[in-house]
Amino acid sequence: MKTLVTGATGMVGRRVLTEFTRRGLPAVGASRTAERRLDWTDTSNWAEVLEGTTRMFVVTPVGTALGHRVAAFLERAAAIGVERVVVMSAMGTEHAPSDSDQRAAEFKAKELFERVTVLRPNWLFQDFTEGTFANLARSRNGRLELPVKRRTEIAFVDARDVAAVAVAALVDDHGGKEYTLTGPEAVTVGRVVRSTKGTDSPVWRFKPVDESRFYYRASDRGWSDRYIDTLNERFAAAVTGRAAETTDDVHAALGREPIPLGRFARESTL
Ligand SMILES: NC(=O)c1ccc[n+]([C@@H]2O[C@H](COP(=O)([O-])OP(=O)(O)OC[C@H]3O[C@@H](n4cnc5c(N)ncnc54)[C@H](OP(=O)(O)O)[C@@H]3O)[C@@H](O)[C@H]2O)c1
Repeated sequence: MKTLVTGATGMVGRRVLTEFTRRGLPAVGASRTAERRLDWTDTSNWAEVLEGTTRMFVVTPVGTALGHRVAAFLERAAAIGVERVVVMSAMGTEHAPSDSDQRAAEFKAKELFERVTVLRPNWLFQDFTEGTFANLARSRNGRLELPVKRRTEIAFVDARDVAAVAVAALVDDHGGKEYTLTGPEAVTVGRVVRSTKGTDSPVWRFKPVDESRFYYRASDRGWSDRYIDTLNERFAAAVTGRAAETTDDVHAALGREPIPLGRFARESTL
């Protein structure tokens, strides 16, 4: 039994892989820069990547128009007899158009496999330490400029909780379950910044900006229009309060409460 972890260098995939290694369970990490090279845009070694795989963790990159590639990979996986698939999309993907990258991956997985678990995490705390927010702040001397209001609240979830649910779904059977994963409370971006100041977070200050200012900063980083548009859609949803919702799904999957902001801040190391 071998588990293939795609997005293996990412914030969640890396932690899924670490947990498999800690438990002594066979798993292989795949991405463009991981141990096993997997590029969604290059089908040439997919048969090799999939060889011996029985379970898979599937991450569709955001705003890349690669949904149809991931769907094609899922078809190959079904053809070689992969039995169990955990698909990670994002909170609210169930409301996205059926041809959007992440919704399409969810649909394809459900169409092809009997045991599918869907994880839809809210924004991750780790965006501040290793993801998009960290990246933006590093280029602005620690100032994080996002198109959300000072009062906008988001129930950030810890990537360790998302990874723990992914591992549970891969190892035990959570087939048919769809988990919307949030932290225990909704907090403002400013509060996270104040809580993580002085830790390894490169974010020192938060400044709300409008969408066009965010676009300007993000395209300066070399990000594609499609990626920026996807982020802007998610920020717009947050401004309307949709990311402030908390769910019990971490508890339902793991039997424990999600990691709160205080613990993330105490333990945030890169
Ligand atoms: N960040 C968040 O707050 C958040 C919240 C909810 C849901 N999500 C979901 O999590 C997923 C990843 O989000 P993220 O961008 O924040 O994650 P990330 O941690 O940056 O991970 C992205 C992963 O995708 C891999 N990847 C990128 N392009 C690839 C390609 N062409 N072929 C193969 N692998 C590729 C990257 O590895 P290489 O560079 O080595 O290829 C990396 O391992 C998305 O589905 C997103 O919707 C994220």
